[in-house]
Amino acid sequence: MQNITIAIDGFSSTGKSTVAKQLANHLGYIYVDSGAMYRAVTLFTMQQGFITKDHFNVNALVEKLGDITITFKFNKALGFAEVHLNGVNIERAVRTLEVSSYVSRVAAIPEVRYQLVKQQQQMGKDKGVVMDGRDIGTVVFPYAELKLFMIASAEKRATRRFEELIDRGDDVTYEAVLKNVQERDYIDSNREDSPLRKADDAIEIDNSDLSLEEQFEKVLGLVAMTFEDFE
Ligand code: DC
Repeated sequence: MQNITIAIDGFSSTGKSTVAKQLANHLGYIYVDSGAMYRAVTLFTMQQGFITKDHFNVNALVEKLGDITITFKFNKALGFAEVHLNGVNIERAVRTLEVSSYVSRVAAIPEVRYQLVKQQQQMGKDKGVVMDGRDIGTVVFPYAELKLFMIASAEKRATRRFEELIDRGDDVTYEAVLKNVQERDYIDSNREDSPLRKADDAIEIDNSDLSLEEQFEKVLGLVAMTFEDFE
């Protein structure tokens, strides 16, 4: 069977990475979490002191972009590749609400997007890849054979993210998580460079009321149809 490219886009916390990991494992494909790459650049920006609540030194970040190396290393126990910044595992460090509160501002910088899109295209050059993000079907892989666009209500998404953060022991409130989800929706959809939007040929999946099993079954059906079309 010929390898295909699967692009999964959508709003934050719509469960894109869950479906992407399930699909990659099922098909034996590489999974790339492009959001983790924007989060890695954001963590670097924070570590350098280039961003605070009311200040962002964009020029300093752009000058230092060459100092950032992002890699993914497969963790057998977890079943997916963890993100590393200059050789250090930052998988857990990039999932905090603090990183989430800055990431959309960093992801709006064209020079950052240019660098990361180039790396993402390189990772997918041989196909056999499932990549999730905001611009995968529109910018990174406009010719992907299968494009999914995931949506769910902001409240459902905030509840999921809140439970995830509480489970791992973070001290957050539901209201703060909901506010972050809504703010990121707004910035990600309204930025000048590659705003989040559904590609014309993407299939929309509203998973507000779908269980994980129902969702995966639906997606597998779409994958099967795609293979039939491309065989
Ligand atoms: O998928 P995520 O929530 O981990 O992504 C974090 C942020 O990164 C998201 O709010 C917007 C940005 N992002 C992006 O602009 N383009 C992508 N392809 C992936 C993420």
